[in-house]
Amino acid sequence: MKTNKDILILGIESSCDETSISIVKNGRDVLSNVTNSQIDIHKLYGGVVPEIASRNHIINIDFVYQNALSKANISIKDINAIAVTYGPGLIGSLLVGLSFAKGLSIATKIPFIGINHIEGHIASNYITNTDLQPPFIALIVSGGHTNLVHVINYNSFKIYGSTHDDACGEAYDKIARVLGFEYPGGPKLEKAALNGINGKFSFPRGEIKNSPYDFTYSGLKSHVINVIHNIKQKNNYSIDNQTINDIALEFENSIIDSLVNRTINLSKELNINKVAICGGVSANNAIKNSLKNECLNNNISFFSPDIKYCTDNAAMIASAGYYEYINENFSSLDLNADANLEFKDKE
Ligand SMILES: Nc1ncnc2c1ncn2[C@@H]1O[C@H](COP(=O)(O)OP(=O)(O)OP(=O)(O)O)[C@@H](O)[C@H]1O
Ligand SMILES: [Mg+2]
Repeated sequence: MKTNKDILILGIESSCDETSISIVKNGRDVLSNVTNSQIDIHKLYGGVVPEIASRNHIINIDFVYQNALSKANISIKDINAIAVTYGPGLIGSLLVGLSFAKGLSIATKIPFIGINHIEGHIASNYITNTDLQPPFIALIVSGGHTNLVHVINYNSFKIYGSTHDDACGEAYDKIARVLGFEYPGGPKLEKAALNGINGKFSFPRGEIKNSPYDFTYSGLKSHVINVIHNIKQKNNYSIDNQTINDIALEFENSIIDSLVNRTINLSKELNINKVAICGGVSANNAIKNSLKNECLNNNISFFSPDIKYCTDNAAMIASAGYYEYINENFSSLDLNADANLEFKDKE
């Protein structure tokens, strides 16, 4: 759709435990991004409880919506399209956002666009880095995904690497839990690693034969859990803080090695000198700085989202929605939520 007017997209994200609604101008300029996080509720249970998450989305979504409009100082009539995550995620949570979007679309006659949450994570980079344009290599590191992707254009992707078992963020959360950190453990593990001493432990680096860009974290996870259990058994079921820090550091080193080399190698193989990281784990400074340094050493430009757009947010969904809008890729009202929606190659 060619137009000289500003395009306003209202984004809705509710795939897990964040109820988020955002208004983004021309795909890049965030006018508002209101998020209600349920972390404090779910940390009591050590992880997200799906039924509680969907109930809280229902309670919060209208308030978040009103707030997003008022912070952007616009009326719903100004919106060109409603972009909403329809998968992957928790089915009950997804249904709340999708039903809200459909209801709004029917009531206002504003078209709506279903967005794959993972394509949203990639778009989070367009918000922070207003000069970033495809083609580039995206490294997606989130709670449910670890992918190396050639972003050919705004709407076309080719996936070169995926995890064969756990996602990177999932491994962080599981190890953090065994070490005694509250959900979500990733940021707490990063903090512990800052005080770790290098060389105290040596953990494996997962490789997959004949799949140079694929990832595996289950071997690393089992190894680290065994190490922790062995230490606890020898110490009357306790583990001291310095040992926790040392384990956290070596775990992080192993994750960094798995991500950095593959990303640089793919960038060189495809001769694409732009790399963008995204997803919740991209909030991790050690990972971000290691990848950034290696990019600099190889004359590759490095991009990352602002920390507030690393974990789930609706601004990234609105940004992805903009690039669907200008191609007139609208969804019909029979679009269903898909908990297992695949992130796959797109022509
Ligand atoms: N500083 C950090 N260091 C390491 N991991 C982190 C950090 N901050 C957040 N994470 C991890 O990011 C993950 C959350 O990211 P995100 O919200 O993108 O995942 P998700 O939406 O649950 O999964 P997906 O996007 O794959 O559907 C959690 O696993 C969390 O521990
Ligand atoms: Mg996510």
